[in-house]
Amino acid sequence: MTASFPHLSEVLKILDGALKSNASMSTNYAGLLADKLEQDGQREQAMRIRERLARAPNAIAHTQDASRLSNSLPVDSESRLYTVDVSKPAKGAVLLKLSSGTMNRISEFLESVIHYDKLQALDAAMPLRLMLYGPPGTGKTQTIKWIAGELSLPLITVRCDTLIGSLLGQTSKNLRRVFEYASETPCVLFLDEFDALANARGNERDIGELQRVVISLLQNIDALEKNIVLVAASNHEQLLDRAIWRRFPFQVPLFLPDLALRTDLWKLMLGDVEIKGLDLNELAKKSEGLSGALIEQVAIDARRHAILGGTQGIDPTEIYRRLGIALALNLGKNLNDVKDEIQWLRKWDAKIFSIRELSRLYKISTRQITHLIEDKHG
Ligand SMILES: Nc1ncnc2c1ncn2[C@@H]1O[C@H](COP(=O)(O)OP(=O)(O)OP(=O)(O)O)[C@@H](O)[C@H]1O
Ligand SMILES: [Mg+2]
Repeated sequence: MTASFPHLSEVLKILDGALKSNASMSTNYAGLLADKLEQDGQREQAMRIRERLARAPNAIAHTQDASRLSNSLPVDSESRLYTVDVSKPAKGAVLLKLSSGTMNRISEFLESVIHYDKLQALDAAMPLRLMLYGPPGTGKTQTIKWIAGELSLPLITVRCDTLIGSLLGQTSKNLRRVFEYASETPCVLFLDEFDALANARGNERDIGELQRVVISLLQNIDALEKNIVLVAASNHEQLLDRAIWRRFPFQVPLFLPDLALRTDLWKLMLGDVEIKGLDLNELAKKSEGLSGALIEQVAIDARRHAILGGTQGIDPTEIYRRLGIALALNLGKNLNDVKDEIQWLRKWDAKIFSIRELSRLYKISTRQITHLIEDKHG
C-alpha cells in the first residue's frame, strides 16, 4: 500500500498540463495547490509556488485568476453563446439551511472531496460525483453554490439550453468542449436541470439524436477523471436513465422542508426584522407544503411591504395573509379578486382572520367583510 501523498491530484494535474503543453491548466492547478498548502498551514511553500506563478508571462498568469476564467470559456460554435456560466461563490456567503440528515450526507461528500488523495491511496475513494434531486425550490442549486463556496472552487454551471445546439451533432461537440474545459480548470462542474440533458424521451427532438446525447454524456462522464467534482441537480429524477444514476455514487434527495427546517428557513429569510407577537413555530406549522423558495418569496414580499409602507416592523397578520395566498396558489387555486382572497383566508384560518383583522388588513368596513364572506356566488 502506498503512503498518502497530500495533494497528489494537483501535482498530477500540473504535470498533465505540462505534458499537453497546456500552460493554463498547469498554472490553474498550481494556484489551487498553493491555496491548499496555505490552508494546511504551509504558507512558506504556498508563497514559493505563487512567486513562480507571478514570474510566468502575463498571458499565462491571468488564468490563475478565477474571475477571469471566462477568457477561454466554451461556446456553441453556431450561436456563439457561452455554454457555461462561471461564478465564484464566496465561502460563508451562500445562506443555506438543510435538515441535519441531509447536511450530514452533503458533509460526507465534502469530506470525500477534501480527503480524496488520502482515500485514493487506501483504495477507498469514490468518484466525486453528486446528484441532488427533489421538488422545485428545495434548495438544490443553492446547495451546490454553497458546496463550491466551501471548497473555494469556481462553479462552472452548464447551460443546458445553449448546450443543446440546434444543429444535429452539435450537442455532443458542445458537451465534449465543456468537459474538456472542466478537466483543465480546478472547479465544480455543475449540470443544473440535468434532466433536460439526460432525458432521452419527452422531447420533440429526434429521438435518435437525444439518445446520442445521452450516450455522449455517459462517455464524457466516464472519461472525466474521478477526482474532478461533478454535480448534477434534477427535479425530474424519474426521467433519468439508470445508466446515469450509476455514475453518481453520491445521491442526495432534497425534500420539502419539515417543521423544524421550515422554522429555520423562516428565521433565515425574515432576518432581523422586528415582528411583534409572531410565533415562528406557529408560522412554520401553518406553512406545511411550502418549499424553501416559496418561504423566501413570502418573507421578501412581507419585508418589502413593511419597508415601502414605512412601518417599522412586519405585521404578523400580513405575513399570514401572504402565506395563505402562496399556499392557495401552490394548491392551484385561483384567487381572482379580493372577495376570493378573503373567503379563502377565512376558510383557511378563521381565528387569525377574524372579521376585525380582515377589515383592518383590507381597509374596508366589518360590515362589508361580513357581506363578502357570506356572498358565496355573485
Ligand atoms: N434549504 C434552503 N436554504 C436556503 N435557501 C433556500 C433553501 N431552499 C430554497 N432556498 C431559497 O430559494 C431559492 C430557490 O432555491 P433553489 O434555486 O436552490 O431551488 P432548486 O431546488 O434548485 O429549485 P429548481 O428545481 O426549481 O431548480 C434560492 O435562491 C434560495 O434563496
Ligand atoms: Mg435549481
